[in-house]
Amino acid sequence: MGYDVRDPSMASQGRERIEWAAGEMPVLGLIRERFDKERPLEGVRVGACLHVTTETANLMETLAAGGADVSLCASNPLSTQDDVAAALAEQSGIGTFAIKGEDTDTFFRHIGAVLDRRPQITMDDGADMVSVLHRERPDQIADVLGGTEETTTGVIRLRAMAAEGALKYPIVSVNDADTKHLFDNRFGTGQSTIDAIMRATNRLLAGKTFVVCGYGMCGRGVASRARGMGAHVVVTEVEPTMALEAVMEGYRVMPLAEAARVGDVFVTVTGDKSVIRGEHMERMKDGAILANSGHFDVEIDKPALAALAVATRRIREFVDEYTMVDGRRLNLLGEGRLVNLAAAEGHPAAVMDMSFANQSLAVEWVVQNAASLEPRVYEVPRDIDLEVARLKLHAMGVEIDTLTPEQEEYLHSWQEGT
Ligand SMILES: NC(=O)c1ccc[n+]([C@@H]2O[C@H](COP(=O)([O-])OP(=O)(O)OC[C@H]3O[C@@H](n4cnc5c(N)ncnc54)[C@H](O)[C@@H]3O)[C@@H](O)[C@H]2O)c1
Repeated sequence: MGYDVRDPSMASQGRERIEWAAGEMPVLGLIRERFDKERPLEGVRVGACLHVTTETANLMETLAAGGADVSLCASNPLSTQDDVAAALAEQSGIGTFAIKGEDTDTFFRHIGAVLDRRPQITMDDGADMVSVLHRERPDQIADVLGGTEETTTGVIRLRAMAAEGALKYPIVSVNDADTKHLFDNRFGTGQSTIDAIMRATNRLLAGKTFVVCGYGMCGRGVASRARGMGAHVVVTEVEPTMALEAVMEGYRVMPLAEAARVGDVFVTVTGDKSVIRGEHMERMKDGAILANSGHFDVEIDKPALAALAVATRRIREFVDEYTMVDGRRLNLLGEGRLVNLAAAEGHPAAVMDMSFANQSLAVEWVVQNAASLEPRVYEVPRDIDLEVARLKLHAMGVEIDTLTPEQEEYLHSWQEGT
Protein backbone atom coordinates (compact mmCIF):
# COMPACT_ATOMS: atom_id res chain seq x y z
CA MET A 1 0.00 0.00 0.00
CA GLY A 2 1.43 3.43 -0.94
CA TYR A 3 2.23 6.15 1.55
CA ASP A 4 3.93 9.51 1.88
CA VAL A 5 5.65 10.14 5.19
CA ARG A 6 8.76 12.07 6.16
CA ASP A 7 11.04 9.20 7.10
CA PRO A 8 9.99 5.53 7.28
CA SER A 9 13.02 4.74 9.46
CA MET A 10 11.32 6.61 12.35
CA ALA A 11 8.78 3.75 12.59
CA SER A 12 10.20 2.02 15.67
CA GLN A 13 10.26 5.25 17.69
CA GLY A 14 6.69 5.89 16.59
CA ARG A 15 5.68 2.37 17.62
CA GLU A 16 6.93 2.89 21.18
CA ARG A 17 5.00 6.13 21.48
CA ILE A 18 1.83 4.50 20.06
CA GLU A 19 2.14 1.75 22.68
CA TRP A 20 2.64 4.33 25.42
CA ALA A 21 -0.62 6.05 24.42
CA ALA A 22 -2.43 2.68 24.26
CA GLY A 23 -1.69 2.26 27.98
CA GLU A 24 -4.07 5.18 28.65
CA MET A 25 -6.74 4.07 26.17
CA PRO A 26 -8.46 1.10 27.86
CA VAL A 27 -11.91 1.73 26.38
CA LEU A 28 -10.60 1.81 22.83
CA GLY A 29 -8.57 -1.30 23.72
CA LEU A 30 -11.74 -3.20 24.69
CA ILE A 31 -13.43 -2.15 21.44
CA ARG A 32 -10.36 -3.29 19.52
CA GLU A 33 -10.52 -6.74 21.14
CA ARG A 34 -14.18 -7.08 20.20
CA PHE A 35 -13.58 -5.78 16.67
CA ASP A 36 -10.79 -8.30 16.27
CA LYS A 37 -13.21 -11.15 17.09
CA GLU A 38 -16.34 -9.89 15.32
CA ARG A 39 -14.81 -8.06 12.31
CA PRO A 40 -17.81 -5.67 11.96
CA LEU A 41 -16.00 -3.52 9.36
CA GLU A 42 -14.81 -6.36 7.12
CA GLY A 43 -13.73 -4.95 3.77
CA VAL A 44 -15.08 -1.44 4.44
CA ARG A 45 -12.83 1.29 3.02
CA VAL A 46 -12.33 4.04 5.63
CA GLY A 47 -10.68 7.34 4.65
CA ALA A 48 -9.61 9.40 7.66
CA CYS A 49 -8.47 13.02 7.79
CA LEU A 50 -7.34 13.45 11.40
CA HIS A 51 -4.41 14.82 13.39
CA VAL A 52 -1.78 12.11 12.93
CA THR A 53 -0.90 11.48 16.57
CA THR A 54 -0.24 8.45 18.77
CA GLU A 55 -3.92 8.36 19.78
CA THR A 56 -5.10 8.49 16.17
CA ALA A 57 -2.75 5.60 15.41
CA ASN A 58 -4.57 3.53 18.03
CA LEU A 59 -7.89 4.44 16.43
CA MET A 60 -6.65 3.50 12.95
CA GLU A 61 -5.41 0.14 14.22
CA THR A 62 -8.74 -0.47 15.99
CA LEU A 63 -10.62 0.08 12.72
CA ALA A 64 -8.16 -2.18 10.91
CA ALA A 65 -8.70 -4.84 13.62
CA GLY A 66 -12.40 -4.63 12.75
CA GLY A 67 -11.57 -5.56 9.16
CA ALA A 68 -11.55 -2.06 7.63
CA ASP A 69 -9.19 -1.05 4.86
CA VAL A 70 -7.90 2.22 6.33
CA SER A 71 -6.08 5.19 4.86
CA LEU A 72 -5.15 8.40 6.65
CA CYS A 73 -4.07 11.97 5.92
CA ALA A 74 -3.53 14.96 8.20
CA SER A 75 -6.29 17.36 9.19
CA ASN A 76 -3.76 20.13 9.80
CA PRO A 77 -0.40 20.77 8.11
CA LEU A 78 1.42 21.19 11.44
CA SER A 79 -0.15 18.50 13.63
CA THR A 80 1.48 15.34 12.22
CA GLN A 81 3.86 13.34 14.38
CA ASP A 82 6.28 12.04 11.75
CA ASP A 83 7.37 8.99 13.72
CA VAL A 84 3.75 7.92 14.18
CA ALA A 85 3.04 8.39 10.47
CA ALA A 86 6.09 6.21 9.74
CA ALA A 87 4.93 3.45 12.09
CA LEU A 88 1.44 3.37 10.59
CA ALA A 89 2.74 3.30 7.04
CA GLU A 90 5.55 0.80 7.58
CA GLN A 91 4.14 -1.53 10.21
CA SER A 92 0.34 -1.35 10.17
CA GLY A 93 -0.45 -1.39 6.46
CA ILE A 94 -2.31 1.91 6.79
CA GLY A 95 -1.95 4.11 3.71
CA THR A 96 -0.65 7.20 5.49
CA PHE A 97 -0.15 10.53 3.74
CA ALA A 98 1.08 13.13 6.22
CA ILE A 99 4.24 15.13 6.85
CA LYS A 100 4.61 17.69 9.62
CA GLY A 101 4.97 21.17 8.09
CA GLU A 102 3.61 20.18 4.67
CA ASP A 103 2.57 23.11 2.48
CA THR A 104 -1.03 23.72 1.47
CA ASP A 105 -0.63 22.00 -1.91
CA THR A 106 0.79 18.87 -0.26
CA PHE A 107 -1.93 18.97 2.39
CA PHE A 108 -4.63 18.83 -0.32
CA ARG A 109 -2.64 16.34 -2.42
CA HIS A 110 -2.64 14.06 0.63
CA ILE A 111 -6.40 14.41 1.03
CA GLY A 112 -6.63 13.52 -2.68
CA ALA A 113 -4.47 10.43 -2.13
CA VAL A 114 -6.88 9.15 0.52
CA LEU A 115 -9.88 9.94 -1.69
CA ASP A 116 -8.22 8.05 -4.56
CA ARG A 117 -8.92 4.91 -2.50
CA ARG A 118 -12.64 5.64 -2.81
CA PRO A 119 -13.54 5.56 0.90
CA GLN A 120 -16.98 4.27 1.90
CA ILE A 121 -16.67 5.94 5.30
CA THR A 122 -15.11 9.38 5.77
CA MET A 123 -13.74 10.36 9.15
CA ASP A 124 -12.97 14.06 9.43
CA ASP A 125 -11.63 16.57 11.92
CA GLY A 126 -12.75 19.93 10.52
CA ALA A 127 -14.70 18.64 7.47
CA ASP A 128 -11.95 19.28 4.92
CA MET A 129 -12.24 15.81 3.38
CA VAL A 130 -16.02 16.01 3.14
CA SER A 131 -15.71 19.42 1.58
CA VAL A 132 -13.16 18.30 -1.06
CA LEU A 133 -15.24 15.21 -1.82
CA HIS A 134 -18.41 17.25 -2.37
CA ARG A 135 -16.73 20.02 -4.37
CA GLU A 136 -14.26 18.08 -6.49
CA ARG A 137 -15.36 14.45 -6.63
CA PRO A 138 -19.17 14.30 -6.56
CA ASP A 139 -19.01 11.16 -8.72
CA GLN A 140 -17.48 9.26 -5.76
CA ILE A 141 -20.27 10.10 -3.34
CA ALA A 142 -22.39 7.14 -4.48
CA ASP A 143 -19.73 4.86 -2.91
CA VAL A 144 -20.01 6.52 0.51
CA LEU A 145 -22.09 4.93 3.26
CA GLY A 146 -21.56 7.76 5.71
CA GLY A 147 -19.04 9.60 7.81
CA THR A 148 -18.05 10.93 11.20
CA GLU A 149 -16.87 14.37 12.35
CA GLU A 150 -14.60 14.99 15.31
CA THR A 151 -14.67 18.72 16.07
CA THR A 152 -16.96 21.70 16.72
CA THR A 153 -15.84 23.63 13.65
CA GLY A 154 -16.42 20.61 11.39
CA VAL A 155 -19.92 20.09 12.79
CA ILE A 156 -20.74 23.77 12.16
CA ARG A 157 -19.61 23.41 8.53
CA LEU A 158 -21.60 20.18 8.06
CA ARG A 159 -24.76 21.66 9.55
CA ALA A 160 -24.36 24.61 7.14
CA MET A 161 -24.02 22.13 4.25
CA ALA A 162 -27.09 20.18 5.41
CA ALA A 163 -29.14 23.39 5.77
CA GLU A 164 -28.34 24.30 2.15
CA GLY A 165 -29.20 20.78 0.98
CA ALA A 166 -25.55 20.36 -0.07
CA LEU A 167 -24.69 17.43 2.22
CA LYS A 168 -25.05 14.21 0.24
CA TYR A 169 -24.57 11.50 2.85
CA PRO A 170 -25.15 10.95 6.59
CA ILE A 171 -22.50 12.08 9.06
CA VAL A 172 -22.34 11.40 12.79
CA SER A 173 -21.30 14.36 14.89
CA VAL A 174 -18.91 12.66 17.30
CA ASN A 175 -18.11 16.06 18.82
CA ASP A 176 -21.62 16.31 20.25
CA ALA A 177 -21.37 13.12 22.32
CA ASP A 178 -21.14 14.07 26.00
CA THR A 179 -18.21 11.70 26.40
CA LYS A 180 -16.43 13.74 23.70
CA HIS A 181 -16.90 17.47 24.13
CA LEU A 182 -17.29 17.54 27.92
CA PHE A 183 -13.88 15.90 28.30
CA ASP A 184 -11.80 16.22 25.12
CA ASN A 185 -12.62 19.88 24.41
CA ARG A 186 -12.39 20.91 28.06
CA PHE A 187 -9.77 18.79 29.82
CA GLY A 188 -7.86 17.85 26.67
CA THR A 189 -7.62 21.30 25.10
CA GLY A 190 -7.16 22.84 28.55
CA GLN A 191 -4.12 20.81 29.51
CA SER A 192 -2.50 20.49 26.08
CA THR A 193 -2.82 24.19 25.24
CA ILE A 194 -1.05 25.19 28.45
CA ASP A 195 1.50 22.42 27.82
CA ALA A 196 2.19 23.80 24.33
CA ILE A 197 2.61 27.40 25.51
CA MET A 198 5.03 26.26 28.19
CA ARG A 199 7.02 24.01 25.85
CA ALA A 200 7.24 26.70 23.17
CA THR A 201 8.12 29.63 25.44
CA ASN A 202 9.29 28.28 28.81
CA ARG A 203 7.63 31.38 30.30
CA LEU A 204 6.32 31.39 33.87
CA LEU A 205 2.54 31.65 33.91
CA ALA A 206 2.17 32.46 37.60
CA GLY A 207 1.28 36.11 38.06
CA LYS A 208 0.77 36.73 34.34
CA THR A 209 -2.44 38.02 32.79
CA PHE A 210 -3.79 35.28 30.56
CA VAL A 211 -6.54 36.23 28.11
CA VAL A 212 -8.85 33.49 26.82
CA CYS A 213 -10.97 34.49 23.81
CA GLY A 214 -14.10 32.32 23.74
CA TYR A 215 -15.59 30.62 26.79
CA GLY A 216 -17.07 27.52 25.14
CA MET A 217 -16.02 23.97 26.02
CA CYS A 218 -12.39 24.56 25.05
CA GLY A 219 -12.23 28.03 26.59
CA ARG A 220 -13.44 26.70 29.95
CA GLY A 221 -10.66 24.16 29.96
CA VAL A 222 -7.94 26.63 29.00
CA ALA A 223 -9.16 29.23 31.51
CA SER A 224 -9.32 26.81 34.43
CA ARG A 225 -5.89 25.35 33.70
CA ALA A 226 -4.34 28.80 33.32
CA ARG A 227 -5.85 29.79 36.67
CA GLY A 228 -4.41 26.61 38.14
CA MET A 229 -0.96 27.76 37.04
CA GLY A 230 -1.41 30.97 39.00
CA ALA A 231 -2.30 33.28 36.12
CA HIS A 232 -4.86 36.10 36.35
CA VAL A 233 -7.40 34.99 33.76
CA VAL A 234 -9.41 37.38 31.60
CA VAL A 235 -12.18 36.02 29.36
CA THR A 236 -13.58 37.70 26.24
CA GLU A 237 -16.90 36.55 24.77
CA VAL A 238 -19.67 37.59 22.39
CA GLU A 239 -22.40 35.39 23.86
CA PRO A 240 -24.01 36.86 27.02
CA THR A 241 -24.71 33.59 28.89
CA MET A 242 -21.19 32.32 28.30
CA ALA A 243 -19.81 35.66 29.48
CA LEU A 244 -22.03 35.52 32.58
CA GLU A 245 -20.85 32.04 33.39
CA ALA A 246 -17.24 33.18 33.13
CA VAL A 247 -17.97 36.12 35.47
CA MET A 248 -19.54 33.79 38.03
CA GLU A 249 -16.61 31.40 37.75
CA GLY A 250 -14.56 34.32 39.04
CA TYR A 251 -12.86 35.44 35.83
CA ARG A 252 -12.62 39.04 34.69
CA VAL A 253 -14.65 39.57 31.53
CA MET A 254 -14.08 42.54 29.27
CA PRO A 255 -13.93 43.45 25.57
CA LEU A 256 -10.79 42.36 23.77
CA ALA A 257 -9.92 46.00 23.05
CA GLU A 258 -9.41 46.44 26.83
CA ALA A 259 -7.88 43.02 27.45
CA ALA A 260 -5.34 43.73 24.70
CA ARG A 261 -3.69 46.37 26.90
CA VAL A 262 -3.24 44.13 29.95
CA GLY A 263 -2.65 40.62 28.56
CA ASP A 264 0.69 38.81 28.66
CA VAL A 265 -0.65 35.69 26.91
CA PHE A 266 -3.62 35.50 24.51
CA VAL A 267 -5.31 32.26 23.44
CA THR A 268 -8.15 32.10 20.92
CA VAL A 269 -10.60 29.18 21.13
CA THR A 270 -13.69 30.53 19.40
CA GLY A 271 -14.02 28.67 16.08
CA ASP A 272 -14.49 32.19 14.66
CA LYS A 273 -12.32 34.30 12.36
CA SER A 274 -10.34 37.52 12.87
CA VAL A 275 -10.87 37.51 16.63
CA ILE A 276 -7.51 39.15 17.41
CA ARG A 277 -7.09 41.91 14.81
CA GLY A 278 -4.62 44.67 14.02
CA GLU A 279 -6.47 47.15 16.25
CA HIS A 280 -5.83 44.80 19.21
CA MET A 281 -2.22 44.10 18.27
CA GLU A 282 -1.55 47.84 18.23
CA ARG A 283 -2.45 47.99 21.94
CA MET A 284 -0.58 44.93 23.14
CA LYS A 285 2.40 45.01 25.50
CA ASP A 286 5.95 44.29 24.44
CA GLY A 287 6.58 40.54 24.68
CA ALA A 288 2.93 39.49 24.44
CA ILE A 289 2.34 35.88 23.37
CA LEU A 290 -0.40 35.03 20.88
CA ALA A 291 -1.62 31.48 20.42
CA ASN A 292 -4.64 29.80 18.86
CA SER A 293 -6.23 26.52 19.85
CA GLY A 294 -9.31 26.84 17.64
CA HIS A 295 -9.55 24.60 14.61
CA PHE A 296 -8.42 26.90 11.80
CA ASP A 297 -5.56 29.40 11.70
CA VAL A 298 -7.95 32.29 11.08
CA GLU A 299 -8.65 33.36 14.67
CA ILE A 300 -5.53 35.54 14.89
CA ASP A 301 -5.35 37.89 11.89
CA LYS A 302 -1.92 36.83 10.62
CA PRO A 303 -1.89 39.11 7.57
CA ALA A 304 -2.58 42.10 9.88
CA LEU A 305 0.27 41.03 12.18
CA ALA A 306 2.63 40.73 9.22
CA ALA A 307 1.52 44.13 7.91
CA LEU A 308 2.16 45.82 11.25
CA ALA A 309 5.63 44.30 11.65
CA VAL A 310 8.85 45.94 10.52
CA ALA A 311 10.85 42.78 11.21
CA THR A 312 10.12 39.12 11.90
CA ARG A 313 12.29 36.24 12.98
CA ARG A 314 11.86 32.71 14.31
CA ILE A 315 13.28 33.23 17.76
CA ARG A 316 12.57 29.72 19.07
CA GLU A 317 11.04 26.62 17.57
CA PHE A 318 7.31 27.41 17.12
CA VAL A 319 7.79 31.06 18.15
CA ASP A 320 7.78 33.82 15.51
CA GLU A 321 8.68 37.26 16.84
CA TYR A 322 7.06 40.24 15.08
CA THR A 323 8.65 43.62 15.83
CA MET A 324 6.33 46.60 15.55
CA VAL A 325 7.39 50.04 14.32
CA ASP A 326 7.56 51.31 17.94
CA GLY A 327 9.86 48.44 18.95
CA ARG A 328 7.25 46.27 20.70
CA ARG A 329 7.63 42.56 20.00
CA LEU A 330 4.63 40.24 19.65
CA ASN A 331 5.25 36.50 19.61
CA LEU A 332 3.04 34.22 17.54
CA LEU A 333 3.13 30.52 18.47
CA GLY A 334 2.85 27.67 15.95
CA GLU A 335 2.04 30.02 13.05
CA GLY A 336 -1.37 30.59 14.60
CA ARG A 337 -2.36 26.96 14.00
CA LEU A 338 -3.76 24.72 16.75
CA VAL A 339 -0.99 25.36 19.25
CA ASN A 340 -1.56 22.22 21.28
CA LEU A 341 -0.86 20.06 18.23
CA ALA A 342 1.78 22.27 16.63
CA ALA A 343 3.96 22.88 19.67
CA ALA A 344 2.99 19.93 21.89
CA GLU A 345 1.48 16.49 21.31
CA GLY A 346 -2.23 17.29 21.29
CA HIS A 347 -4.63 15.91 23.83
CA PRO A 348 -3.46 13.31 26.31
CA ALA A 349 -4.44 9.75 25.42
CA ALA A 350 -6.81 9.36 28.38
CA VAL A 351 -9.32 11.82 26.88
CA MET A 352 -8.80 10.70 23.29
CA ASP A 353 -9.73 7.23 24.58
CA MET A 354 -13.32 8.42 24.88
CA SER A 355 -13.39 10.52 21.70
CA PHE A 356 -12.02 7.66 19.66
CA ALA A 357 -14.19 5.03 21.34
CA ASN A 358 -17.10 7.14 20.07
CA GLN A 359 -15.48 7.32 16.63
CA SER A 360 -15.08 3.54 16.36
CA LEU A 361 -18.59 2.79 17.60
CA ALA A 362 -20.05 5.52 15.36
CA VAL A 363 -18.39 3.94 12.30
CA GLU A 364 -19.79 0.54 13.27
CA TRP A 365 -23.24 2.13 13.72
CA VAL A 366 -23.10 3.83 10.30
CA VAL A 367 -22.07 0.57 8.62
CA GLN A 368 -24.90 -1.33 10.34
CA ASN A 369 -27.55 1.32 9.68
CA ALA A 370 -26.42 2.81 6.36
CA ALA A 371 -29.50 1.63 4.48
CA SER A 372 -31.90 3.60 6.66
CA LEU A 373 -29.87 6.83 7.16
CA GLU A 374 -30.58 10.13 5.39
CA PRO A 375 -28.05 12.71 4.22
CA ARG A 376 -27.95 14.81 7.39
CA VAL A 377 -25.97 15.26 10.60
CA TYR A 378 -26.77 12.62 13.23
CA GLU A 379 -26.00 12.71 16.94
CA VAL A 380 -24.06 9.79 18.41
CA PRO A 381 -26.77 7.40 19.68
CA ARG A 382 -27.26 7.93 23.42
CA ASP A 383 -26.62 4.27 24.29
CA ILE A 384 -23.16 4.50 22.68
CA ASP A 385 -22.36 7.67 24.65
CA LEU A 386 -23.46 6.09 27.94
CA GLU A 387 -21.61 2.86 27.20
CA VAL A 388 -18.37 4.81 26.63
CA ALA A 389 -18.85 6.57 29.99
CA ARG A 390 -19.58 3.25 31.74
CA LEU A 391 -16.52 1.56 30.28
CA LYS A 392 -14.31 4.55 31.14
CA LEU A 393 -15.48 4.58 34.76
CA HIS A 394 -14.94 0.84 34.97
CA ALA A 395 -11.42 1.17 33.58
CA MET A 396 -10.70 3.90 36.15
CA GLY A 397 -11.94 1.63 38.96
CA VAL A 398 -14.79 4.00 39.82
CA GLU A 399 -18.14 2.55 40.80
CA ILE A 400 -21.41 4.46 40.98
CA ASP A 401 -24.85 3.89 42.46
CA THR A 402 -27.88 2.57 40.61
CA LEU A 403 -31.47 3.73 41.00
CA THR A 404 -33.67 1.65 43.30
CA PRO A 405 -36.99 0.54 41.72
CA GLU A 406 -38.72 3.13 43.95
CA GLN A 407 -36.44 5.92 42.68
CA GLU A 408 -36.89 4.76 39.12
CA GLU A 409 -40.65 5.07 39.48
CA TYR A 410 -40.45 8.42 41.31
CA LEU A 411 -38.27 9.97 38.60
CA HIS A 412 -40.82 9.00 35.95
CA SER A 413 -43.94 10.11 37.79
CA TRP A 414 -45.66 13.39 38.66
CA GLN A 415 -48.21 12.51 41.37
CA GLU A 416 -45.93 12.68 44.41
CA GLY A 417 -45.20 16.27 45.54
CA THR A 418 -45.09 18.39 48.68
N1 LIG B 1 -7.13 22.46 19.92
C1 LIG B 1 -7.85 21.35 19.91
O1 LIG B 1 -7.31 20.26 20.03
C2 LIG B 1 -9.33 21.44 19.79
C3 LIG B 1 -10.14 20.47 20.40
C4 LIG B 1 -11.53 20.60 20.31
C5 LIG B 1 -12.07 21.68 19.61
N2 LIG B 1 -11.24 22.57 18.98
C6 LIG B 1 -11.74 23.72 18.22
O2 LIG B 1 -11.79 24.83 19.12
C7 LIG B 1 -12.80 25.75 18.71
C8 LIG B 1 -13.76 25.99 19.86
O3 LIG B 1 -14.44 24.78 20.17
P1 LIG B 1 -15.49 24.70 21.35
O4 LIG B 1 -15.95 23.30 21.41
O5 LIG B 1 -14.97 25.37 22.57
O6 LIG B 1 -16.67 25.61 20.71
P2 LIG B 1 -17.88 26.30 21.47
O7 LIG B 1 -18.89 26.59 20.42
O8 LIG B 1 -18.27 25.50 22.67
O9 LIG B 1 -17.25 27.68 22.03
C9 LIG B 1 -16.83 28.74 21.22
C10 LIG B 1 -17.10 30.04 22.01
O10 LIG B 1 -16.46 31.13 21.35
C11 LIG B 1 -17.34 32.26 21.42
N3 LIG B 1 -17.00 33.23 20.39
C12 LIG B 1 -17.32 33.21 19.06
N4 LIG B 1 -16.80 34.30 18.45
C13 LIG B 1 -16.14 35.00 19.41
C14 LIG B 1 -15.38 36.22 19.39
N5 LIG B 1 -15.24 36.93 18.27
N6 LIG B 1 -14.83 36.65 20.56
C15 LIG B 1 -14.99 35.94 21.70
N7 LIG B 1 -15.70 34.80 21.78
C16 LIG B 1 -16.26 34.33 20.63
C17 LIG B 1 -18.73 31.64 21.28
O11 LIG B 1 -19.72 32.53 21.80
C18 LIG B 1 -18.60 30.36 22.09
O12 LIG B 1 -18.98 30.53 23.44
C19 LIG B 1 -13.44 25.11 17.48
O13 LIG B 1 -12.79 25.61 16.32
C20 LIG B 1 -13.12 23.64 17.66
O14 LIG B 1 -13.20 22.93 16.44
C21 LIG B 1 -9.89 22.49 19.09
